[in-house]
Formats: sequence, C-alpha cells, structure tokens
Amino acid sequence: MANLWGGRFTEATDASAYKFNQSISFDKRMYRDDIKGSIAHAKMLGKQGIITSDESERIIKGLGDIRSDIDEGRLIISDEAEDIHSFIESVLTERIGDAGKKLHTGRSRNDQVALDMKLYTRSQISETDKLLDELQRALIAVMEENIDTYMPGFTHLQKAQPVTLAHHTGAYFEMFIRDRQRLADIFERMNTCPLGAGALAGTTYDLDREMTASLLGFDGGSTRNSMDSVSDRDYLIEFLSALSMIMMHLSRFSEEIIIWNSNEYRFVDIDDRYSTGSSIMPQKKNPDIAELVRGKTGRVYGALMSLLTTMKGIPLAYNKDMQEDKELSFDAMDTVKDCIREFTGMIRTIRFNKDVMEESAKRGFTNATDAADYLVKKGIPFREAHSIVGRLVLKCVDKGIAMDDLSLDEYKAESDVFENDIYDAISMKTCVDKRLTKGAPGRERMLEAVRFYKVYLEDMKA
Ligand code: ARG
Repeated sequence: MANLWGGRFTEATDASAYKFNQSISFDKRMYRDDIKGSIAHAKMLGKQGIITSDESERIIKGLGDIRSDIDEGRLIISDEAEDIHSFIESVLTERIGDAGKKLHTGRSRNDQVALDMKLYTRSQISETDKLLDELQRALIAVMEENIDTYMPGFTHLQKAQPVTLAHHTGAYFEMFIRDRQRLADIFERMNTCPLGAGALAGTTYDLDREMTASLLGFDGGSTRNSMDSVSDRDYLIEFLSALSMIMMHLSRFSEEIIIWNSNEYRFVDIDDRYSTGSSIMPQKKNPDIAELVRGKTGRVYGALMSLLTTMKGIPLAYNKDMQEDKELSFDAMDTVKDCIREFTGMIRTIRFNKDVMEESAKRGFTNATDAADYLVKKGIPFREAHSIVGRLVLKCVDKGIAMDDLSLDEYKAESDVFENDIYDAISMKTCVDKRLTKGAPGRERMLEAVRFYKVYLEDMKA
C-alpha cells in the first residue's frame, strides 16, 4: 500500500525500518475514531467551500461505507499501510477517486492522531466509569446484607476494634467514588478539539474549528494553541494515573480477599467460578483472580511510568516518540477493564462467613477499648481503665477465652466497679451500634450511608 509521503523520496524505506516505524498493527483499533474525525472534517471543508459540497458528500458516504465494511468484516485492515490514517485514506481514494485525495486538505496526521487519541481515550473513560458503576452496585448489595455482620477492624493487620462488613466495604465504595470523580475531571479537562491545529502551526485555509469541535461533541470548543494541540498527551497521562489509582484500590481489596480466603482466616469462600485448583495438591482452591488483579497493577503503573518518561524530553511540537503513547496505554485500558469486570464477578459470588468474622472479632479482643470506656463512664480515669483492661486481656490470653467469657468475679477481681451490665457493654452489637460519630460503623450511620450511596448511584446515572 502506498504511503502518504512518497514524493520527496527516491528510495523505499528499508523493510525492517518500515516495520519498526509502522503503527497500524496497534492503531487500527482507532478506526472508528479516525473515521468519525474525518467525517467531521469533510463536512466542515464542504461548508466552508474549501472542497465542493458534492466532494464533501462523496467523502462522507465513502467513509461511512468503510466503517460499516470494517465493522461487519467485509474490509480487513491491512498491515501493509503505515498507520490507520493512511489505510483509511487510501481505501477511500481507491473507492471514490480524486475526491478522496482532498480529504486531507488543511489537516496533518499530527492533529489527526491527536484527535483520534482523544476520541478513543474519551470512550475508554466512559467504559471504565460504567464498569466502576457496576462494581459499586455489587458493593452496595454486600453492604445492605451486612449492616449487622461484625468483624474485626485492623490496624497494622492486628485486630483493633469491631466494625461491620458493611463499614469495611463502604471504605472501598468511597475509593471508587473518588476514582469516578477523577475520570469525570479528566473528561472535562480534555474536552477540547485539536483538529485544525495542522502539523503544528494551523493552516491558511479558512477552517471552522468550532464546527468540527461541536460535531465531535467537544463541549469546550477547539484548542487554543496549535503547537500544544499536537503535542499534548497530558490527558492520557492523567487517565493512566487514574487507572493506576483504580488498580491500587482493586489491588488492596484483592489483597484483603486473599488474606480472608486463607485457611487461617476463613472469612470468605471465593466461589468455584472465580478460583482454581492445583495440579498437584488436590485440596487446594486458589484465589487466582484476586492475585491476578493484584499482579496486573504493576503493568498499569508501568504504562504510566513509560509515557511520563517518553514525554519528558520531547521538544515542541510533534515528534515520532509520541507514537509510543499507544501500545502500553491500550494495554493498560484493556487490563483495567478486565480487572474491574472479573473483580465484580468475584464479589457478586463470594460468600462471607459471618460467624467466623464475628468470632474472630471477639477472640481478638476488639472490644477491649469498649471495656475501658465502660470503666471511664463509671468514673475511672482512662489511663487506669486502660491498665485494668490490659490485665483482664492477659488473663483471657492465658485461659484462651474472649473477654465475653470472663466471669463477673474475674472482672471484679480487677475492679469492683464492674457489674453485670459489662457483658452488654462489650457485646459486638453494642460496641458497633454505639459508634455513631459521622463515618462510624453504628447501625444508624450505616443505614444512612447506604441511602446516600444509592442516591449517589442514581445521580450518576442521570
Ligand atoms: N502513527 C503516528 C502516531 O501515532 C501518527 C502521526 C504521524 N505523524 C507524523 N508526522 N509522522 O503518532
């Protein structure tokens, strides 16, 4: 397939240099964005009288046909073209003749690829957001069912104070709210159209850049500086950063699920559909999906580091280095979508062993703070209460029991302030439900949180 720039050359590119230079093998996935941009450009050229309206219409029809032919498998994108832009332009010219050769008037591949990449990234932001929405819906279901599922809350991975599974899950819901906010911010900031920036310095044709911007749904209109327009990949770096953050959250959650799924914890059973066995050890059921999500986080961070590094030494304006914005970014975009999808499936089918969780909270003395607070409410200074309860905990450790299992005599041996109401005061239910500061796991607070998250999801839909 002929390239777009043969005129000045007397020798063909070396075969392996050609292969090294080409981008069609990976930018072909942008064919719909490329065609969309070209249709807008052709409409504008026609309206401005830069090409005739007949030429404009033939180009638009030709491009529409190419799109449906590729969509439906009648036209295969050939790796012989240098890039997706050359491929589509040459098929168009083959099909409609000279009019096709006018499509590139007032345009460069530099503003064209800047546009394609923005359009593609925009669609990926929306798809990622939709998947996060589904994940959040799965989390809401877990929360609603587990308002009264008591479990240990951890600090330093040591059992600390009692929380509920709803509360723990809510923490992740919050992270994904922030992730979605970041996506919306990026979408908003990148909402300007680079088309018309030309190679770097605009053009002498009387283009209507606002028209193409509006046809392509860029609410912020067209970009302000043509040199920046063709060399800006900030939005992509921001997106990779947001994707990295999403992966970091998924990875933390995965790590917890892996711990909870271990034989020692048994807080959860991952469904058979989301775990795998061992080829040698018949008893094993491994949390592979969670491990893979945790593992793939590294490769998404890698894409972010790669593009930051690629961009750091590039003088204005376009340089071919920037073609490296694609492969790893595409890989990161695919990876994150796969991870959210699989993770959501795993959450939808996971079983929480509520009794094990509650027992673990009790056995881990997560109610020790509440026992101390009980004494404080009866007039003992907190520091003293802390040491009384410390001694009680030691006694429990010796006997291998929970604080709830000590007799009243044993309590009284440390302080005669203890009465029968100590048992209610340190029950998991009381410990949790009395925690009613904003953001705490108390039942009323959690019901409020679930209501808030549901309204949030409805608002996001609208
Ligand atoms: N394949 C190129 C890229 O991805 C398209 C732009 C080419 N522009 C150029 N002046 N060679 O960046």
